[in-house]
Amino acid sequence: MADSRCSATRNPFTHTETPAVSVAIEDLSKSFGKLEVLKHVSFHVEPGEIFVLMGPSGSGKSVLLKHIVGLELPSGGRVTVDGRDAAAEETREQIRLALVFQAGALFNSMTVYDNLALYLREHRVADEAGIREKVMRALQILSLEAAAEKYPSELSGGMKKRVAIARALVMEPQLMLYDEPTSELDPVMAATISEIIATLKDQYHVTTIVVSHDRDLALNIADRVGILMGGQLVFLGTRDELRASADPRVVDFLNPKIDLANPRFKQLET
Ligand SMILES: Nc1ncnc2c1ncn2[C@@H]1O[C@H](COP(=O)(O)OP(=O)(O)OP(=O)(O)O)[C@@H](O)[C@H]1O
Ligand SMILES: [Mg+2]
Repeated sequence: MADSRCSATRNPFTHTETPAVSVAIEDLSKSFGKLEVLKHVSFHVEPGEIFVLMGPSGSGKSVLLKHIVGLELPSGGRVTVDGRDAAAEETREQIRLALVFQAGALFNSMTVYDNLALYLREHRVADEAGIREKVMRALQILSLEAAAEKYPSELSGGMKKRVAIARALVMEPQLMLYDEPTSELDPVMAATISEIIATLKDQYHVTTIVVSHDRDLALNIADRVGILMGGQLVFLGTRDELRASADPRVVDFLNPKIDLANPRFKQLET
């Protein structure tokens, strides 16, 4: 495989470089009461790579992502970011990570500009002039300058996703996590968002984890792919290995067949 990974993350605002971070999921299990959601899952995300985590609905993808940002605690096993416990307060202080939520989680009462400035103002990262420079640079990277004074309700679905990505970018992340970044988008916009994720990784070498159902995204931009089914990792490999996989679970997942004899479709006919 041509190695597109890189060991240093370049800050998009200051252009300084910091070592890219890695993520290790080691024998991770998670239960909610009697429901076993994750069962002994292990994989590593290498510094500066795009790792795409796929799997059917309810297979535990979002729960796994929440462990990496410390929003859930393991029932068994360990999750570490650069060797540090993902849930520890000190890890939050030392490693900047940004999660792009599925629904974008933008504040509807604020303009795009203020949505991006919020984190910087709360963390007193810079004075207003410094904040303006950063916000406008992030909007420029995502080709959103014209949307600065718009409210989220005035934006298309694709633009909202781009604003959510721009807002993550102003946090100057060393680790970017995306939950379903292309869901609810038409194929052209979904491909654009995939390209943006790949471009951010290529230009800034940010370690990137994407949770997605989007087969095209995985096959086009992933360095490596993991597939979760029933809480277990049934595939781990490069996108070329994914394409070549003969495992029936993987083949069926990537090429779902619609069973017209299924009673659900019969009901639709009547
Ligand atoms: N806080 C919680 N308490 C109890 N059960 C939970 C909790 N969070 C998730 N679950 C359950 O864990 C399972 C996996 O959920 P998860 O959200 O990780 O699925 P997913 O793979 O992200 O699915 P989708 O593709 O639909 O987003 C589901 O059965 C869900 O109901
Ligand atoms: Mg999910």
